Amino acid sequence: MKRALTPGTFDPITSGHLDVITRAAQLVDEVVVSVAASEKKNPLFTLDERVALVKEATAHLPNVRVEPFNDLLVNFARRMDAEVVIKGLRAITDFEYEFQMTALNYQLDQELETVFIMSPPQYMYLSSSIVREIASMHGSLDGLVPPCVVRALKEKFESVA
Ligand code: PNS
Repeated sequence: MKRALTPGTFDPITSGHLDVITRAAQLVDEVVVSVAASEKKNPLFTLDERVALVKEATAHLPNVRVEPFNDLLVNFARRMDAEVVIKGLRAITDFEYEFQMTALNYQLDQELETVFIMSPPQYMYLSSSIVREIASMHGSLDGLVPPCVVRALKEKFESVA
């Protein structure tokens, strides 16, 4: 069985993430969406909330499961028995950061392959941070995030108002 990880902070999951996960699920037998604790990034949503939102957004994909992790991606990949990491690549601005992470992950584990899927044009400039900003100013998120995330962001920004 070919198992892939699609790692990220998912604070929150966007339509761009969902596009990558959906396409990854067509390439391998099983996708483990790997939700990093990323405590240093001081996420808006707790790890449990992020995992729950990713689970709801991917519930229609039968070969996708969702797991939290709080260690090195290469160690988590070994634990999950995954041989490939699949990530989305948006604009050129992503490249340097992704290049660095891929090189370091390769240094740590030469058996773990990293593969990139190019974002389609409509998601090229979409990010969780932009989504959080739009939500904080009560703008429309139509098409940018799955419906469960629209609800969750509304609740989050109502509760902090
Ligand atoms: O969505 P993000 O925040 O850009 O995802 C970054 C993530 C979670 C994929 C990356 O920070 C990661 O892999 N973290 C796990 C810790 C780790 O392995 N760090 C070393 C990477 S070289």
